[in-house]
Amino acid sequence: MTSSKSRPVQIAPSILSADWTRLDEQISDAEQAGADWITLDVMDGNFVPPITFGAQMAAAVRSLTELPIEAHLMVEHPEDHIEDFINAGVNCLTIHIESTRHPHRLLQQISERSVEAGITLNPGTPLSEIEAVAPICDRIQIMSVNPGWGGQQFIPQSLSRIRQARTMLDACGREDADVAVDGGVNESTIASIVEAGANWLVAGSAVYNKRESVADALARLRRALPDARRG
Ligand code: DX5
Repeated sequence: MTSSKSRPVQIAPSILSADWTRLDEQISDAEQAGADWITLDVMDGNFVPPITFGAQMAAAVRSLTELPIEAHLMVEHPEDHIEDFINAGVNCLTIHIESTRHPHRLLQQISERSVEAGITLNPGTPLSEIEAVAPICDRIQIMSVNPGWGGQQFIPQSLSRIRQARTMLDACGREDADVAVDGGVNESTIASIVEAGANWLVAGSAVYNKRESVADALARLRRALPDARRG
């Protein structure tokens, strides 16, 4: 498998910023406009202050699109919830290193169900916290905002963390694994994020906003990518 560093960048619209009163249209618009994944930002009101939705929403979204679905579990004790999300049909589960006592076992359990396993960490958590689990991850996701809300500003220090994550995966033989970025991805940040080593990008408010259509927003994002990474 080619290294993810040279593969086309994948863009995953997060429905967090979508119009939930017409979610079928919003997801269909993203699919038709060339989105690669759909991301669900799952929040429990404990790990992060807001509450969004659970596995039932994942099942509903599963019925609306052929795109692969990633669930970003911003929840305490994700081990209590992975079964429901896997049964709902998600293709990737991304868990926070800060949210569970046994991340290694949990990531193994996710992989054993043929679901991609992602690890993510808050901006204040040192990268060293995920070093032990990097070899068994399909994705390291760098949170470039503090989780809980869409539409926040990209944290510039995230660029060095993206580089560290790429280096960490390559050093343990996981050139195939993705470096994902979540938070503040837009036309002014996307090029530096990709040049730092990311190849899988969550975009919420840059895709779903009142300024333009989903198609125009995704096209704008793609145009801002380095030529070789547009896919
Ligand atoms: C963090 C969420 C957001 C969302 C993306 O709580 O995970 O980062 O996916 O939001 P934007 O793209 O609007 O920063």
